[in-house]
Amino acid sequence: MRRPLLSGSLSDPSFSAVGATRATDTINVERRRGAIIAVVANGKGGCGKSTLVLNMAIGYGQRKQRVLIIDADIEQKTASKWPRPAGLAGPVVVASPTVEILDRLAAVIGHYDIVLIDLAGRDDRAAAPVLAVADILISPAKPSHQDLSELDRFIRVAKAKATPHLVVFNEATRETTGELSQLVQEFSQFKPFLPTAMQQLAGYRRAYAYGRSVLEYKQAHPAKENFCRVFRQIEAAISQARANAGMAQ
Ligand SMILES: Nc1ncnc2c1ncn2[C@@H]1O[C@H](COP(=O)(O)OP(=O)(O)OP(=O)(O)O)[C@@H](O)[C@H]1O
Ligand SMILES: [Mg+2]
Repeated sequence: MRRPLLSGSLSDPSFSAVGATRATDTINVERRRGAIIAVVANGKGGCGKSTLVLNMAIGYGQRKQRVLIIDADIEQKTASKWPRPAGLAGPVVVASPTVEILDRLAAVIGHYDIVLIDLAGRDDRAAAPVLAVADILISPAKPSHQDLSELDRFIRVAKAKATPHLVVFNEATRETTGELSQLVQEFSQFKPFLPTAMQQLAGYRRAYAYGRSVLEYKQAHPAKENFCRVFRQIEAAISQARANAGMAQ
């Protein structure tokens, strides 16, 4: 009698579905215990996803949270290439294709308080199961019509999974302007927008080059002050999203 090949079961869709369900269940147990998952994504490239992820990671680290970054942009690997100096506390960064995130996350999520996932812009379809276990989708976007019209790709998926989302203007001239308010009105289908925009400031680029967050500038610095305000609002939005979902704070 021929024995069934064990490896044959891996290509059976019913088996992979069981695996995915198990990973999702494990992740949701940890979320209920307090682990936060934030996905940062936008269909448009170069809008500041990695910049936001790295700065948020240090922000949560300064709050004594254990932070994991999953860098799913496996072509660019901006988060993985961040030249964080040895000896400086920082997040754990792992690279993973989007389709493998759930399995990898399920294996390690118990060790972290917050997981930040930096997704590639083209991965909107593959992102659906990841967004289903996320507390929030955060989409940085430049304040332009071209960039805002790309928001639909991920926000549509988040809405289908009943995952809250938040749009953060990046590379704005100032934190609040009449032009930004006008764009919020024009693109009201993508609300909510964070009240304070990330400004276009050389300090953000400079901090990345030195493996630092803008929050780590020793002296007062425009980018540090800007991101302090942005980060506080993002934290509040995530807490609110978790409270609405009945998740532990
Ligand atoms: N607020 C800002 N002020 C100044 N420069 C910024 C700001 N945000 C991002 N940048 C710069 O813009 C470029 C793109 O940013 P980043 O890599 O974070 O975007 P991304 O969305 O992750 O891009 P990709 O789609 O290529 O992954 C980088 O050079 C970054 O340093
Ligand atoms: Mg990036």
